[in-house]
Amino acid sequence: MLSKQTIDIIKSTVPVLEVHGTTITKRFYQLLFTAHPELLHMFNHANQTKGRQQTALANAVYAAALHIDKLEMILPAVKQIAHKHRSLGVKAEHYPIVGQMLLTAIKDVLGDAATEEILGAWAEAYGIIANVFIETEAEMYKQAEQQNGGWADYRAFRVERKVRESDVITSFYLVPEDGGALPAFEPGQYVSVKVHIPGETYTHIRQYSLSGGPGKPYYRISVKREDEFPNRPGGKVSRYLHEQINQADVLWLSAPAGHFTLDRMDTRPVVLISGGVGLTPLVSMLSTLTESHSDRPVTFIHAAQNASVHALRSEVEELASRASQVSLYWCYDKPTEDDRAAQAFHKEGYIDLPWLQDVVPTKDASFYFCGPEPFMRMVFGLLKEWGVASEDIHYEFFGPSGSLEAA
Ligand code: HEM
Repeated sequence: MLSKQTIDIIKSTVPVLEVHGTTITKRFYQLLFTAHPELLHMFNHANQTKGRQQTALANAVYAAALHIDKLEMILPAVKQIAHKHRSLGVKAEHYPIVGQMLLTAIKDVLGDAATEEILGAWAEAYGIIANVFIETEAEMYKQAEQQNGGWADYRAFRVERKVRESDVITSFYLVPEDGGALPAFEPGQYVSVKVHIPGETYTHIRQYSLSGGPGKPYYRISVKREDEFPNRPGGKVSRYLHEQINQADVLWLSAPAGHFTLDRMDTRPVVLISGGVGLTPLVSMLSTLTESHSDRPVTFIHAAQNASVHALRSEVEELASRASQVSLYWCYDKPTEDDRAAQAFHKEGYIDLPWLQDVVPTKDASFYFCGPEPFMRMVFGLLKEWGVASEDIHYEFFGPSGSLEAA
């Protein structure tokens, strides 16, 4: 239990640290990777370069510190992060290392302003925050291991099939190499995939949503190849998977994780909206809804540039053909002449509110969406403008998660 004095110090220093937030976390990562280069096996180097991870960590620490006297307020956020940590393999023994580096970073950046008293208060507060994470994650490891066919760390999977789904998206059907059972998962969850790319010093880990429904003898991920552009480096892992991983090769997976899941107890209409490769968790949800013979009305909306990059279209159409209460809509913002001739889409351009209100039967529905960040911001804005209740809006970011509320 923290003393009132410690709590006061923490609360009064949060705004100061927030001002230096990213400088502190950047310094923190320099210190961390210099002292513990082995952790570079675990962190996503691309997220580091873009600074997204630094911001995510800084925001999480300050949010926790602000609520240090009522940590139950941040439990939903802790759970979400803990899912990611568990899927990556973060362990209790990593926390003191992170704590020590964070304090040193605070000291380095604040200089004399970081008095012994302030550092002592932060050390105590970090210990309490870290414990909440450690306990939540310990429970998640236990659950992952105790499930039928479950496992705690990484497990070898063989690529049973590799299927091209569009010009940029390819699916990998993965079966456990040990021939054992596969645990069930919630539609919308992801797995971490760990790869050893020849010539690279460190392993790389990425999260991919499972793109099929649960209950199959395989897990399927559908990966977008991130090509190189003049202003953007290519995706190391996605290109490795597309170009070098083939049938019979082995990938290492951690057990399914993630909080962006279909609420199966909900009986109201459901609206699944995706942009680009963001359709993967939503196809898993659609598959679950149709295979469980749910009678919930489902509106499935997918936005893509055109048919050449529209993945899993025939599979989604096949799923919908089995259930009369499922409506499908395709929005293309760069349709080709062939797309026009084939009447391959329902809307040209971006989703807008009048159109959404036209195709979605009611705003009293559960909305799930996923896609690139600008797309997510647009969909979120439309739902808010329409007056959809906050608790009915569910979304997932690619990479370090964020909040659309704060936008
Ligand atoms: C990701 C917070 C401790 C390793 C994250 C994210 C947050 C976060 C907010 C982003 C989550 C997301 O993308 O959904 C924290 C806090 C910690 C803590 C508040 C301490 C109280 C640790 C420790 C380790 C660790 C001890 C292990 C050394 C990671 C890794 C990622 C991550 C590898 C993924 C980052 C990436 O994409 O590169 N953490 N974390 N974290 N965390 Fe932590």
